[in-house]
Amino acid sequence: MELHTFRCCDSSFEEKNKFNDDKNQTLSSEEQIEAEESVKKQYTHFKHRLEIDHECILPVLDREMHSAFLQKGLSNLSSSYECLDASRPWLCYWILHSLELLDEPLSDETISQVAKFLGKCQCETGGFAGGPGQHAHLAPTYAAVNALCILGTEEAFQIIDREKLYDFLMSMRSTQGAFKMHKGGEEDIRGAYCAASAARLTNIMTPELFDGTPEWIVRCQTYEGGFAGCPGMEAHGGYSFCGLAALTLLNKTNLCDVKNVLRWTGNRQMRYEGGFQGRTNKLVDGCYSFWQGGAFPLIHMILTMHSTKDDSSLSAESWLFHQKALQEYVLVCCQYPGGGLIDKPGRARDYYHTCYCLSGLSIAQHFAGGKLSHVLNIGHENNIVRPTHPVYNVCVDKVVHADMFFKQLPPPKSASKSPNT
Ligand code: FPP
Ligand code: ZN
Repeated sequence: MELHTFRCCDSSFEEKNKFNDDKNQTLSSEEQIEAEESVKKQYTHFKHRLEIDHECILPVLDREMHSAFLQKGLSNLSSSYECLDASRPWLCYWILHSLELLDEPLSDETISQVAKFLGKCQCETGGFAGGPGQHAHLAPTYAAVNALCILGTEEAFQIIDREKLYDFLMSMRSTQGAFKMHKGGEEDIRGAYCAASAARLTNIMTPELFDGTPEWIVRCQTYEGGFAGCPGMEAHGGYSFCGLAALTLLNKTNLCDVKNVLRWTGNRQMRYEGGFQGRTNKLVDGCYSFWQGGAFPLIHMILTMHSTKDDSSLSAESWLFHQKALQEYVLVCCQYPGGGLIDKPGRARDYYHTCYCLSGLSIAQHFAGGKLSHVLNIGHENNIVRPTHPVYNVCVDKVVHADMFFKQLPPPKSASKSPNT
């Protein structure tokens, strides 16, 4: 097995990679220096541990601690989660996806209980709400559909009322093809992604549902290269992922400037920390391991599709970012000692960061391009988590299983009977 050389063991690592404020001190430069200091403490401590790591097993993904934290969240949440009372399907999704990445099985009873709970979040209008009795919203709709597909039972699949879901998605559309998040709410690129993802997974996608949507999405690509929440705003990793994944789902990636997305996304990986920032001149955060990291498999696929045999300089075993550096950041800086993963050292753990740190780790470990696949792992052999599907962020086997179930069902009755549907 090839031994991994850790970046922090290179004597010129600090000098080469630390932030230089060019003697222009600003609030942002101070925060950047502070963030690097907190990361440095972790890397320095880790370097000392490596010196006595004779079996070369470090770093270790603390599966047991993370699983215990996740399992607890399925039945009991502390009062600090009160503010997420309107995001309960999200909590189900973050926890279930983290557990599937860790290959932790759920009991049949738990699967059924979670499915029934998600059923209570489904509204008369067909969308899912943030909790029972609340209003339908596209974000918990996306989360609930993903969570039900992870549960993967007939009971879970049958919860989704596809006819009504289709009508709900239709009702969120503007005439231009943008999607608002809820009735009377804002239009943004998350809406387009949430709608496309839920529609594709449940096999209710029609041309009329997404007429004009790709054209609206590309208007969100900014001069920097990433995508913003809506036209004219600032590029951000969360929105950029939504834009790229939605265009992928709609088979319209040819409309965006992929080289610009690549340059912008690649430059969001932090030289020193190894993790990603969400936008230019901001701080590293573990959750962007997925929101930014997850864009690379999509970019890779787009570049492969659009390149000829001769001009493709793409690797057959790695994405176009520093996968080992991201793994170092997640494993050394983002594991909370009592279980769960975090934004950056010193921050509290939560289910959102646990989900997206582990999802980013999965992207950094698994390469899959066409028929080729390759696993890149640093540290303990048990660190390898399961491969996630970069479009839905649900494990690949669960996407295939859901697809097999929903593709045998007919299109929604309210979809017009055009020959393309
Ligand atoms: C800035 O937060 C965050 C945003 C502007 C939006 C982030 C969007 C997502 C994470 C995508 C959501 C996706 C779905 C599917 C609903 P901040 O200013 O606190 O953080 P920053 O300093 O890191 O930019
Ligand atoms: Zn975060």
